[in-house]
Amino acid sequence: MSEIPTIKVENVTKTFHLTGETITALKDISFAICAGEFIVAAGPSGSGKSTLLHLLGALDVPDKGKIMVNGRDIAVMSESLRANFRRYEIGFVFQTFSLIPVLTVYENVEYALLLKGVPKGQRKRMVMETLTTVGLERYATRYPRQLSGGQQQRVAVCRAIAGQCTYILADEPTANLDAKNAMGLMEIMRQLNIERKVTFIISSHDPRVISKAERVIYLEDGALRDSTI
Ligand SMILES: Nc1ncnc2c1ncn2[C@@H]1O[C@H](COP(=O)(O)OP(=O)(O)OP(=O)(O)O)[C@@H](O)[C@H]1O
Ligand SMILES: [Mg+2]
Repeated sequence: MSEIPTIKVENVTKTFHLTGETITALKDISFAICAGEFIVAAGPSGSGKSTLLHLLGALDVPDKGKIMVNGRDIAVMSESLRANFRRYEIGFVFQTFSLIPVLTVYENVEYALLLKGVPKGQRKRMVMETLTTVGLERYATRYPRQLSGGQQQRVAVCRAIAGQCTYILADEPTANLDAKNAMGLMEIMRQLNIERKVTFIISSHDPRVISKAERVIYLEDGALRDSTI
């Protein structure tokens, strides 16, 4: 693991405005993440985990503070630069299986590469190599509905890593899985973290998932508790 922080969250605050109500989802939080880390963002429901992942993934912007990624503040980037950042540098895995139902497993993983303009021959190699890594090469021609939830999440991880992004944000990826599949998914993500040096930031309130973390960032009511950096 590199000791140089590649992601620096500095004094970030995020509020949501509803009629007659302001919700502070994140309150002045600061921490750093180094390349190659395997982090779990933990905390009770409503503590701000998803909000934090959305900000780290440039899906939303903070009200205050900076989010420096490789020296650039993604909080103040133009929308087109942010779209590029999402496409080329980040992989997302969500709680509900987010595969495209009309595409096969192969096509779902290939889609991320198509968006990046990777040539066809290279795409095929990259897709099959990634599916093999998670033990799903035999399922390439199946559709998502023909897979179990655990297998679908493995495809989602494949789609996230196929494009060789720098880091993966996974928002409660094990929430809809049974214990065995949840641990299987965690092991695959950890293996990819070690072998491919992809940085993982995973949100969860499951103690078994948290126990697999290299480092845990605890959120409580939008504030950080016990962060080691
Ligand atoms: N789009 C939104 N509009 C208004 N309030 C929101 C919005 N998104 C989140 N919130 C509020 O911000 C707070 C943090 O929500 P967030 O989704 O980040 O929590 P979480 O830790 O991911 O919870 P969970 O474990 O249930 O997924 C909550 O009080 C939530 O109601
Ligand atoms: Mg959430």
